[in-house]
Amino acid sequence: MKTIKKIISVCFIILFFSTCSKEQKQENKIDSYENKIDNLIAKMTLQEKVGQMNLYNGFWDATGPVPEDGNAKTKYEHLRKGWVGAMLNVRGVDKTRSLQKIAVEETRLGIPLLFGFDVIHGFKTLSPIPIAESASWDLEAIKKSARVGATEAAAAGINWTFAPMIDISRDPRWGRVMEGGGEDPYLGSKIAEARVKGFQGDNLADVNTIAACAKHFAGYGFSEAGKEYNTVDISTNTLYNTVLPPFKAAKEAGVRTFMNGFNDLNGIPASTNNFLQRDILKGEWEFDGFVVSDWASINEAIFWGQAKDKKEAAYLASTAGSDMDMEGYVYVNELVKLVNEKKVDITTINDAVRRILRVKFELGLFEDPYKYCDEEREKNEIGNKAHQEAVLDMAKKSVVLLKNEKQLLPLKKEGQKIALIGPLADDDNSPLGSWRLASDDHTAISILEGMKAYKGNTLKYEKGVDFYIGKTAFVDEVKVNTTNKEGMKQAIQAAKNADVVVMVLGEHGFQSGEGRSRTNLDLPGLQQELLEAVYKVNPNIVLVLKAGRPLTINWAKENIPTILMGWQLGTQTGNAIAQVLYGDYNPSGKLPMTFPRNVGQIPIYYNYKSTGRGSNRENNVFWSHYSDVENTPLYPFGYGLSYTKFEYKNLQLEKATYSLNETIKVSVDITNTGNYDGKEVIQLYIRDKVGSTTRPVKELKGFKLVPLKKSETKTITFQLAKAELGFYNNQGKFIIEEGDFEIFVGGDSNANLKSNFELK
Ligand code: BGC
Repeated sequence: MKTIKKIISVCFIILFFSTCSKEQKQENKIDSYENKIDNLIAKMTLQEKVGQMNLYNGFWDATGPVPEDGNAKTKYEHLRKGWVGAMLNVRGVDKTRSLQKIAVEETRLGIPLLFGFDVIHGFKTLSPIPIAESASWDLEAIKKSARVGATEAAAAGINWTFAPMIDISRDPRWGRVMEGGGEDPYLGSKIAEARVKGFQGDNLADVNTIAACAKHFAGYGFSEAGKEYNTVDISTNTLYNTVLPPFKAAKEAGVRTFMNGFNDLNGIPASTNNFLQRDILKGEWEFDGFVVSDWASINEAIFWGQAKDKKEAAYLASTAGSDMDMEGYVYVNELVKLVNEKKVDITTINDAVRRILRVKFELGLFEDPYKYCDEEREKNEIGNKAHQEAVLDMAKKSVVLLKNEKQLLPLKKEGQKIALIGPLADDDNSPLGSWRLASDDHTAISILEGMKAYKGNTLKYEKGVDFYIGKTAFVDEVKVNTTNKEGMKQAIQAAKNADVVVMVLGEHGFQSGEGRSRTNLDLPGLQQELLEAVYKVNPNIVLVLKAGRPLTINWAKENIPTILMGWQLGTQTGNAIAQVLYGDYNPSGKLPMTFPRNVGQIPIYYNYKSTGRGSNRENNVFWSHYSDVENTPLYPFGYGLSYTKFEYKNLQLEKATYSLNETIKVSVDITNTGNYDGKEVIQLYIRDKVGSTTRPVKELKGFKLVPLKKSETKTITFQLAKAELGFYNNQGKFIIEEGDFEIFVGGDSNANLKSNFELK
């Protein structure tokens, strides 16, 4: 016994010292970076320093307008002189290596380049679009998906991603909701953390990890009227309680860079916003990585009417804490003059350069600038089997079952005549979404292909109606077909002959994303007509909805027995949908964003303020409502069904009263009462009944994704502490207040199993 104890204590001591030395080593490393950065900065000329703050696009047809005064020749000259700190959209080992070689071998100080890329939902092997992934509420899967994207990108020479986008948005008119985590700051924060950790891994210096970038700091998701690149005017209350939490979570998860945005915030453009970047991010939050502008967004201070020219824009942005200028040419052309004229202090420049160099050191680029340039790895990693499996898994987890009456799903595997109808059914392109620069067009598995793998049924495919794809300037755009009904007849005939009709309708992948705001969220083009025509001859319809945002599908909700939200699910779309349709995967996704009944309800979100007249207390017209549509959404936040059923019972708290510092334990029993094994996202909401500022009617403060076998019951516990119970006051200070709270637990934001407690 004694010897065992001795062995244990020796092990303990060894473990203790080995961890100490690990931490010590890390600290020493950081110290030595800082010393090295000091030495390097001391050697740099002003123009070389400014060069580090300059990010150039590697080719023209990428994501924004070509700057008038920019051309490839100038870029190469600047690169050779050491006037470029980073490049974006250069990908592939051969290309990144050749540019890195110039930076390292031809410039005076040989400082390596960062290579940035929008790894939004994968690199070549594409995961579901981020809002779809968010619908999984599966943080491990989301992290893994970011890991896959990072691994492929890193193998292609990339060491920095412009992701995750963590803009909270309550406006599905805005095309970029497809890129984010939805409407809720709590869920959004957890997803932000998962994605950052997925991209950056445990050690940024590993060859398959890349620096992440929390964007767009901040408020972009509140673009007025959902119109892209629009003004943002929000209160301190909304800024602190809704917009900033995911950014703070990303910072705490160790994100190494931030990107500002194209919006202004309460009168000041994000790129020249001192309050956001200096006071909050670098001040209060002590962020020590760097901030990159969005594409030429510094120049846009001129168009916003805040700066009179590029020089003033450069002045405003650099002093406000934008450390790097993306494809704007204003820093590289203006900052030297501004410093020489003593308008910008050299300490501002040194601070920005230090931050940029720090990330380069952390990535290990000074030790080996070519560490991301390994052809062998590039060949083995990109598109490999493990990545295909991972994105398939993520895709299945992202599907949300919105309705399943008549139990049409899961489909029977044999003896059925199935008609597959719709313009998005035999579609191998649109599922890739609009962020797909490194992927090849037409490389998604279509739903038709996925369904063909199930051979026990007969399958008849008809397109019905079509989408048209056209090109404008650089990007693909969808021209909606409102006239050509050629395929309609055949589709109706196929439906007539079928036992079950699977219809794949919705938005094309190029109808959401950057620059793709919409004011009409109905099924585009002739699809509604097609749906109704098919319904007339065969109402046994399973509607698979494809979109990058919530759509207004009132008629379908009313009439179609089964609806599956299938988003754009990336490379493995067809396999994922087919496996869900045939019950080889039981869906457990939940909506990360409210579905409105009509566009007039927008912004619509579950955590709204009760208002002074939130209910019709006096049975008259003078309360907060519309006279033509009810207040409730079409589908609430957090909503999603399963092939099985879940029952919640016994919501319990240990006490009725807690002190402000106590942790509250909540437990609930959940039983799978249906006929299938399944998973449920158990959601916990609170309502802070009285506060010093108005409070939302409900706030998500916990969730757990729990697998339950048929008939199984589990007791699930949640803990609520200060972080969950407090909020930001109108001075931006986090406070926790005494008073009464309600707790709701259930499977969506309408959860009504309720309890309460008091904080004293
Ligand atoms: C987008 C950013 C993106 C950048 C580089 C901009 O248009 O707003 O989110 O990272 O382009 O591609």
